[in-house]
Amino acid sequence: MSLRRFPAIESGGLIWFAQDPAADFAPAQALAPDLDAFALGNLHLYRRHTHDVAANWKLIIDAFLESYHVQRLHAQTIAPFFADGITVADRIGPHQRAAVGRTDYLARIDRDDWRQVRKAMTFTYHLFPNTILVMSPDYLNVLTCWPQDVGRTLVEDIMLIPSAPRDAEEERHWDKSWTLLDTGTFAGEDFRAAALCHQGLASGLVEEIMLGTLEHGVAEFHAMIGQALAD
Ligand SMILES: [Fe+2]
Repeated sequence: MSLRRFPAIESGGLIWFAQDPAADFAPAQALAPDLDAFALGNLHLYRRHTHDVAANWKLIIDAFLESYHVQRLHAQTIAPFFADGITVADRIGPHQRAAVGRTDYLARIDRDDWRQVRKAMTFTYHLFPNTILVMSPDYLNVLTCWPQDVGRTLVEDIMLIPSAPRDAEEERHWDKSWTLLDTGTFAGEDFRAAALCHQGLASGLVEEIMLGTLEHGVAEFHAMIGQALAD
């Protein structure tokens, strides 16, 4: 009774839905070849955890739209994997994608070999508005922000691996990756930084924020939000 039907599609291994009956899924469909290359629809759900973060959801997304913070904020966790990194980014409709590659490896690998490319590069996708995909060399994380309040967000982190661990050694391998990324990097550093940024903004004393040239992804995200709200 009184239920509303909303548009939804399956594309690139994901189910996309919108509350807008006139939603345009063409950009989502344009991303399908990318997501299919990571076999997103055929992976094994290794672990999931929902983080309760005291920050506005947009501050959490911001942290995944530039990569220069990795060497500083993540100095104790993942920074060594990104030493000497260069980034390239572009947009597909309202969605963004970026690749961070290590220049010393890139010069040596066969760039037509997808496995070698994935070892040398980390890909990040922002699926507008609230989802981030982080493609590590042999697994990936799907982070979805669910705003609860202006200053509180539930972030669901899902780690997907090629297939279920077959023995204790494989389990240890994936558990180590989970702990490094979900617990150490995301919760311990990115979400914590977002919560600290939120405290600063919530003071009401910050009148404006200037973004640097390495933060154009952040600027584009906020412009897209403004456009979506105006539509
Ligand atoms: Fe980060």
